[in-house]
Amino acid sequence: MLNTIRGRIIAVLILGLAVLLLITAINFWNVFSVNEKIRIIENYDDLFNDILEVRRYEKNFILYKNVNDLKESLEYLDKAEDLARRLALNISELVGSEEFDHFMSSLHSYRQVIVKYTVSDNDQISQSDITLMRSRGKELIEFVSRFIDIKRKRIHRALSRSVVIPFLFLLIFFTVIILTFRIVVRDIFQPLQLIERTTKEIAQGNFSPIDYKARTKDEIFDLVTAFNKMAREIDEGQEELVQSRKIAALGTFTAGVAHEINNPLNNIYLTAEALIEDFEQQIPGEAKELVLDILYQSERAAEVVGNLLDFSRSEHPSYTELSVDDVIQRTVKLVKNQLMLTGINLEMEIASGLPEIKGAQRHLQQVFLNLFLNAIHAMPNTGELTVSATTYSSEYIRIDVKDTGVGIRAEDLERIFDPFFTTKGVGRGTGLGLSVTYGIVKEHGGYIEVASEVGKGSTFSVFLPVVAERPEEQDGRPNSHSG
Ligand SMILES: Nc1ncnc2c1ncn2[C@@H]1O[C@H](COP(=O)(O)OP(=O)(O)OP(=O)(O)O)[C@@H](O)[C@H]1O
Ligand SMILES: [Mg+2]
Repeated sequence: MLNTIRGRIIAVLILGLAVLLLITAINFWNVFSVNEKIRIIENYDDLFNDILEVRRYEKNFILYKNVNDLKESLEYLDKAEDLARRLALNISELVGSEEFDHFMSSLHSYRQVIVKYTVSDNDQISQSDITLMRSRGKELIEFVSRFIDIKRKRIHRALSRSVVIPFLFLLIFFTVIILTFRIVVRDIFQPLQLIERTTKEIAQGNFSPIDYKARTKDEIFDLVTAFNKMAREIDEGQEELVQSRKIAALGTFTAGVAHEINNPLNNIYLTAEALIEDFEQQIPGEAKELVLDILYQSERAAEVVGNLLDFSRSEHPSYTELSVDDVIQRTVKLVKNQLMLTGINLEMEIASGLPEIKGAQRHLQQVFLNLFLNAIHAMPNTGELTVSATTYSSEYIRIDVKDTGVGIRAEDLERIFDPFFTTKGVGRGTGLGLSVTYGIVKEHGGYIEVASEVGKGSTFSVFLPVVAERPEEQDGRPNSHSG
């Protein structure tokens, strides 16, 4: 229950309410007990008055020696005794049963003296009896005054308890308010402010997730998780969009340049070739080498232009159903020689019965050729090239091209798919290989992932949709960076 903000607030309110109910009950009990004490103290007052009456008649008797006074006195004494018996329990509780017994025996011996003179009709009272009567009478007055005094103190105490109760009420009330406020501020307002700040940053293009340390998996935790997921997806979509735009813009530009260069380049090549074929005898050895160099260099230049044209290609070739296995085997043949020369060991792990894909054979071959060449370049002093193909999900097959080469630095990783990004020396790499690869894979409805560790090697994973279903690009894709 305490896992959610709602649960925490409800818990605080229920606890507060329970304490308030308890205090209310205590208050009721207190008022009731004060009432009860007041009722009893009225009885004590009656007892006190009765004894006062007894003593008044006692004085009259001593003064006027009228037996009727003694009879009156005895009547009040009976009343007092009767009342004292009824209050026995209460008095014992108040002052202890010993003192009550003491009080009763005083009452008793007082009574004996009085009875002695009422029965004998004897108005000649002895001095010793007068003293006894007075001292017992005084004792009785003292007893009852003490009872009343104690009882009164108790009432005061109960009353002062009642005074505290409203303050307790206020205290609990404020505690509940403060606790609720704290929950709202700490668990709702602060995270909301954080979300607001992050939203502003996202608007400015910074897609870092909300740095929220949740204590429990409450509503805000769910919100932040959903928010971060959204930010990550927008970020990935954004990257892909930028990449596509970059490539599209460059493509148009490059296509123009490549076309312009292609014709003169062809002419240079054909001319040099004709020169060798037609004038082979006349050309001295040194000059022949220079012409061969022209041929070699223009071949290289034609290759670059070919790459550029591939890169800028905007036409959609016709797709046919293809076996990935076949595409890979054909591409491997193209690099067999280079593998042998560098002594690289090739491992093929193509699962049998892979579903077919729909695509352009030549373009897909280009994809794998680029990846193989990059891998070979990354392993100048031999290594191992592993090519594996498996069914990745019901929608995709996955082809991994893994090398044990130099690896890619983290800061380069996000740029390798950029057109013209290369770490190879001038004249050795155009930096177009991976952007061409990226473009082709994307056109086929697939995506590429890279994992690399400097000094250990790299793995390029190509995901291509299978024929059965050709989903829209985003459907069924795992969450990952696709460059
Ligand atoms: N398998 C790999 N191992 C290490 N680095 C790689 C690998 N593949 C690509 N790279 C890095 O990515 C960069 C860009 O690769 P890309 O294929 O786009 O261009 P290139 O190979 O440099 O030139 P091009 O392919 O046009 O001849 C490379 O220069 C290299 O730094
Ligand atoms: Mg390359």
